[in-house]
Amino acid sequence: MAQSPEILAALDVGNQRVLALIAELDERAELLIRGVGIAPSAGTRCGQVVQLKPVVAAIRAAVEEAELMARLPLARVYASVAGTFVSGRMTRAAISLGSREREVTVADLEQLHEAAQRQPLPQGHVVLNVLTHTYSLDDQDGLLDPLEMVGRQLSVDAYVLACQESPVRTLEKAINEAGLEVDEFLFSPVAASLATLTPDERRLGALVIDIGYGNTTYAAYAGERLIAAGAFPMGGNKINDDLVHRFQTTAAGAEKAKREAGTMLLADVSPDETVSVPTIEGRGNHIISRLEMCKIMRLRVQETLELVAADVLRQITDDSPSTGVVLTGGGAHAEGLVALAEEVFVKRARLGELEGIADATQLLESPELPMRSPAVAAGLLAYSKRAHLSSMTPLLRSRHSRPGLFSRITRKLLPKREVGHDHV
Ligand SMILES: Nc1ncnc2c1ncn2[C@@H]1O[C@H](COP(=O)(O)OP(=O)(O)OP(=O)(O)O)[C@@H](O)[C@H]1O
Ligand SMILES: [Mg+2]
Repeated sequence: MAQSPEILAALDVGNQRVLALIAELDERAELLIRGVGIAPSAGTRCGQVVQLKPVVAAIRAAVEEAELMARLPLARVYASVAGTFVSGRMTRAAISLGSREREVTVADLEQLHEAAQRQPLPQGHVVLNVLTHTYSLDDQDGLLDPLEMVGRQLSVDAYVLACQESPVRTLEKAINEAGLEVDEFLFSPVAASLATLTPDERRLGALVIDIGYGNTTYAAYAGERLIAAGAFPMGGNKINDDLVHRFQTTAAGAEKAKREAGTMLLADVSPDETVSVPTIEGRGNHIISRLEMCKIMRLRVQETLELVAADVLRQITDDSPSTGVVLTGGGAHAEGLVALAEEVFVKRARLGELEGIADATQLLESPELPMRSPAVAAGLLAYSKRAHLSSMTPLLRSRHSRPGLFSRITRKLLPKREVGHDHV
């Protein structure tokens, strides 16, 4: 059975779990969650597929659960991608409209976007997403849509995310083998920002940080544009590794102790407090110092946040105004993380709440899923909703008529530099 156009689906293949969401776009253009599927991840490391079969099985399990709940078969999904193999930078491209002033046409915009996508890329890289354009027409800067405006010289500022081709191609293969087509891939923190940032935060500037199991990724916005993004191969897994090494306990024991007794607020922990963790051989327990455990956790999280802060500064030369930091992903649940982020960034911080999903309660009820973990999948739904609505607007249809850019490259094997475009 074909998938109805009003049914949108998101697939977030995380390093800890695979999450599939099925939503219905109602007549008021609101997203209603119809199905949720979660399966433990296997076969990925830091966002890369390292073993195909377990990834296919995990995707299949998550999707089947979501299909069962929604009582709908899925055929197509929007999918996340994250890892150090994705990187981005600001790009400017310009075209001349001729010697005399004239109106900007759809064909001009197509030509301009193609120019923006013709990036000199390292060997084996392709453009993944071209995001948040603002245009300039002669002396007018900051235009959101210059169509039918009059001028001679048209330029665009876009943030281009490029990626190594093979990790994304392999992920797409896993999704295809699980029986689904990918409409489009989107870099995870960009998706998380779509689910959590308010319009004011997007305008005035904000930094979204998604802390997962194998990756910490970020996306920074100002003036409604993506201005910086990146990924680091560290998340909750690194904290667990630190605890396993220091206390000679199991990974599961470290995870449990971290969740139940961990905090970033060292002043709240007395030096006499203890935590019981299993021994590494699984026979009996150790008694460890809670303060020492929390110090180790805090050091690792602080290091991760400082890496993000330095990477943002490397990409943004001016001190862009910022309303602060928004934290998502399962790792955002660490007690006291907001305070630590405020210390590192010297800005206000908050936990991300899912915006724009009319009925997210089913998501939040699942005991298997930390509350901030679905931000990426929810953002993929928001992105697919936008693409769906714009494809229904005749004027915009021609501008969005191309299939998802990476899937277009991989499925139709078009030349590498010839890619689609999207507005976020
Ligand atoms: N209360 C908590 N305190 C600290 N960390 C937590 C807590 N709850 C969950 N986590 C961490 O969240 C991480 C999982 O986050 P998430 O569900 O976002 O993973 P993922 O999306 O599969 O991973 P990735 O984004 O790396 O692909 C785990 O490392 C887990 O330890
Ligand atoms: Mg994740």
